[in-house]
Amino acid sequence: MKDNELLAKWDSRHAEAESLGRVATVLEQNIHLATAGCRALDLACGRGANALFMATSGLEVTAWDLSPVAIGRLERAAGEQGLVINTAVRDVIAIPPEPRSFDLILVSFFLERSLAPVIAAALRPGGLLFYQTYSRVAVSDEGPSSEQFRLDDNELLTLFPTLKVRVYREERLLGDTRRGWRNMAMLVAQRV
Ligand SMILES: C[S@@+](CC[C@H](N)C(=O)[O-])C[C@H]1O[C@@H](n2cnc3c(N)ncnc32)[C@H](O)[C@@H]1O
Repeated sequence: MKDNELLAKWDSRHAEAESLGRVATVLEQNIHLATAGCRALDLACGRGANALFMATSGLEVTAWDLSPVAIGRLERAAGEQGLVINTAVRDVIAIPPEPRSFDLILVSFFLERSLAPVIAAALRPGGLLFYQTYSRVAVSDEGPSSEQFRLDDNELLTLFPTLKVRVYREERLLGDTRRGWRNMAMLVAQRV
């Protein structure tokens, strides 16, 4: 897909979406691991449910996305809620975060494998990566249709070999597939 087609696709999805999206489970379940007031980045933030959650939790939040429509919706919501979020329309592949620039980086439902070493390097020492996205093995067809945008078995563990794993979850098709947390993998990992 060409750059302008990609942008048009995301702008129209963000314009049509009814809500700001859902807070990622990896963030909801593990926000207590973040240091109060730390500098956090929501990378490819979409309409910003995660950025708003982190700001409400007392973090100093930066949020970047390719889509001006998404960033506009996030800015309006932050204003309405009285929250300060440093937003920018930014292509994070063309202009990735600087080395050692954040204490926490959250990536949810965005998978650009070539960025993995840059994301790890963008953490400050002691900093945490929170990552959640869809896996290839799934119990329903929610999520992207292209395999390219889905994780292979244990792939999040291999994408960030320099980080120490603190939390990892991937249930695949084990046991009673009507229960549990399916279709995705989550990672919290630390730069030491
Ligand atoms: C599936 S959405 C996920 C949004 C958000 N992280 C969430 O969990 O709701 C993927 C997001 O990636 C953004 N995106 C795609 N390519 C990008 C790029 N090169 N730079 C920045 N954002 C990008 C899209 O605009 C979209 O908001």
